[in-house]
Amino acid sequence: RKILVLHGPNLNLLGLREPQHYGRDTLDDINNRLRAQALAAGFELDVLQSNAEHVLIDRIHACLSDGTAMIIINPAAFTHTSVAVRDAIAGVKVPFIEVHLSNVHAREPFRQHSYFSDLAVGVICGLGAHGYELALAHAMQRLATPA
Ligand code: DQA
Repeated sequence: RKILVLHGPNLNLLGLREPQHYGRDTLDDINNRLRAQALAAGFELDVLQSNAEHVLIDRIHACLSDGTAMIIINPAAFTHTSVAVRDAIAGVKVPFIEVHLSNVHAREPFRQHSYFSDLAVGVICGLGAHGYELALAHAMQRLATPA
């Protein structure tokens, strides 16, 4: 009953960073809502933001032994660049949902390729911070329902 939320590079700047793309909520606003949502449903939530690829990779590897049942990840710019983070998440075989605040398909062409989407349970983009809440709701429902 443990879910991990991973936020990639520059998402610590949410609130002041390009609000036309990413909205006005800070990362703390988003994480606090997710914590409340998980707590209310009796799930354990762990949250990590990092600007460093290896920190995200090491946290993903830790899922092998910490009981994480599902990951919600916004890989941010690593979405479009990181074979290493992709390989980490493929390696631990923990199912994950990919989230983007902005609609990456309506932006620059280089944002339209993701190294994660073909491995993801599903992808949410363009719904702003609400996308994380929808992803968490889905993850909890999935874990509550026997496969
Ligand atoms: C993002 C989209 C990425 O293209 C970008 O590099 C980000 C954030 C999003 O949440 O919309 O940093 O993942």
